Amino acid sequence: MEIRVYPDPVLRRGGQTVTDFGPELKQTATEMMEAMYEEGGVGLAAPQVGIELKLLVLNPTGSKKDRDGELVLLNPKITRKKGREFGDEGCLSFPGIQAEVERFVDITVTYTDLDGQEQTLKADTWLARIIQHELDHLEGVLFTDRLTPVDKLRVKSQLAELEERYKARAS
Ligand code: CO
Repeated sequence: MEIRVYPDPVLRRGGQTVTDFGPELKQTATEMMEAMYEEGGVGLAAPQVGIELKLLVLNPTGSKKDRDGELVLLNPKITRKKGREFGDEGCLSFPGIQAEVERFVDITVTYTDLDGQEQTLKADTWLARIIQHELDHLEGVLFTDRLTPVDKLRVKSQLAELEERYKARAS
């Protein structure tokens, strides 16, 4: 599984609603979790590996040994949100870039699990931040869209560098 890097256009396409809860979906989720650990991430959304589905995987510790922390969310939707705070974020699709992003502190998410069951999850702070970041990917929204004007300016040359690298690879 290859992680797509900005400005790969698939990152802007987001994901379609998951309707097929077969064994292939479980396999995809497992492979995504592995790819996430390999790259040292705490979350990964399907469009980041070129799969246009509303599917995301995460583990707030990012540790393979901590299987209890693993979550697979299908068709997630935020139903309640409260409070705002800034916090540091990075993204596997933006190697080398980190910046502060404002997110909701407390959220409630409804989603479908791998068995096709509807679930409700309450999350705050770090977990809530990861979910909001990954959920954005499912809508084709990237964390760099949400930076303050000052940070947008700060990362501008890094983004330009990624664009150059992408062009060089594509040609
Ligand atoms: Co990301």
